[in-house]
Amino acid sequence: MEQTEKKQVVFSAIQPSGTITLGNYLGAVRNWVKMQDEYDCIYALADLHTITVRQNPAQMRRNILDAYASIMACGVDVEKSLFFIQSHVHTHAEMAWVLNCYTQFGELSRMTQFKDKSKKHADNINAGLFTYPALMAGDILLYQADKVPVGADQKQHIELTCDIAKRFNGIYGDVFKIPEGFIPKNGARVMSLQNPLNKMSKSDENVNGCVHLLDTPEVIMRKFKRAVTDSEACVRYAEGKDGVNNLMTIYSAVTGKSLDAIEAEFAGKGYGDFKTAVGEAVVEELRPIRERYEQLIRDKAYLEDCYRQAAGVALKISSRTLGKVMKKVGFVR
Ligand code: TYM
Repeated sequence: MEQTEKKQVVFSAIQPSGTITLGNYLGAVRNWVKMQDEYDCIYALADLHTITVRQNPAQMRRNILDAYASIMACGVDVEKSLFFIQSHVHTHAEMAWVLNCYTQFGELSRMTQFKDKSKKHADNINAGLFTYPALMAGDILLYQADKVPVGADQKQHIELTCDIAKRFNGIYGDVFKIPEGFIPKNGARVMSLQNPLNKMSKSDENVNGCVHLLDTPEVIMRKFKRAVTDSEACVRYAEGKDGVNNLMTIYSAVTGKSLDAIEAEFAGKGYGDFKTAVGEAVVEELRPIRERYEQLIRDKAYLEDCYRQAAGVALKISSRTLGKVMKKVGFVR
C-alpha cells in the first residue's frame, strides 16, 4: 500500500494476547474494516506490548498467528491496508525509547490501565508495563496518523500520545501530526456478560463473561442465555440495568437498530426471547469470520507472505519519521 496525498492516515493495533473478543471486534476491528476504502489504513499486532505481562513462548507464537488470521478473517484486506507485526519493524522499539525521554513519570502514573494491571499482576509490575503508553504513542506517531480507531478504554492513552507529540513539536518544530481518537458511538465499551460493571476482557476469570470471535454458535448461544440481567423483566435502557444495557448495546451494534427500536421490538416479551435474539444476531455476525479464519490458519505460507511484505513497507514509512526525530534530537546521522 502506498500513501497518497489526499487520503488521511489511520493507525491502530491490537495485542495478540489470547483470542480476540467480541469487545475488540465491536470496539475497534469492525471499524478498521469499514475505514479501509476511505483512508490509508495501517494496522498492527502489538506483540511488543504483550510481554508487559508474562507469556508462555509457544502459546505466544500461536496467539500471534491466530490473531493475524483472525483479523484478516474480520475483513482487514492486505490488498488495501498495511497489516504487520510490530516486533518485525524495529523502528517501534527505537521510537519508544526516544519518546520515553519526553514522557513524564507523573503522566504515566495517572494511566488507569497501568493502575488496573498493576493490581492484577501485583507480582510483576515491570518497567515495560509502566512505559507502555510511550510505545503506543510511538506506534501512532511513526505513521503520522490522523485517526486512531479504538474502544473507549484506549482514550486516555491517545490523549497522552497527543500530549507527548505536542511537547516534542513544541521543542523541535512540526515533526508529528497530532492524531485523533476515533471511538464508535455504539460498541465502544462492551461489558462482561457475567459482571456488566467490568469490561469484556480476554482475561475474564468467568468463561461465560467473554465471547470470543472464534466461539462456536453453540457456545455463543450458551453465553448469551446465561448473561446476567435483572429482576425487572423489561427490555429498556436505564440506569442500574447494566446487564440489559450491555445486551441492548451489543444488539444495537450488531443489527444497527436504535435502542428505542429494540425496546419496541421486545415490548411485552421476557428476557429469554431477548437473550436468544442477541445471541442469534452475534452468531450470524461472527459465522463468516470463523469460517474464513479456518481457511486462513491452514495456510501458514500465505500468512507469512502477508506479514513479511507488510513489515517491509511499514519499515520504510516509519523510518522516515524516526530519521527526522533522531536528527532533530541531535543524534549524528
Ligand atoms: P487491546 O489489545 O486491549 O484491544 C484492542 C482494541 O479493542 C478495544 N477493546 C474494546 N472495545 C470495546 N469493548 C471492549 N470490552 C474492549 N476491549 C478492548 C480496545 O479499545 C482496542 O482498540 N494498547 C492497545 C493496543 C495498541 C494500540 C497501539 C492501539 C498498541 N499500540 C496504537 C491503538 C494505537 C491495547 O492494548 O488494545
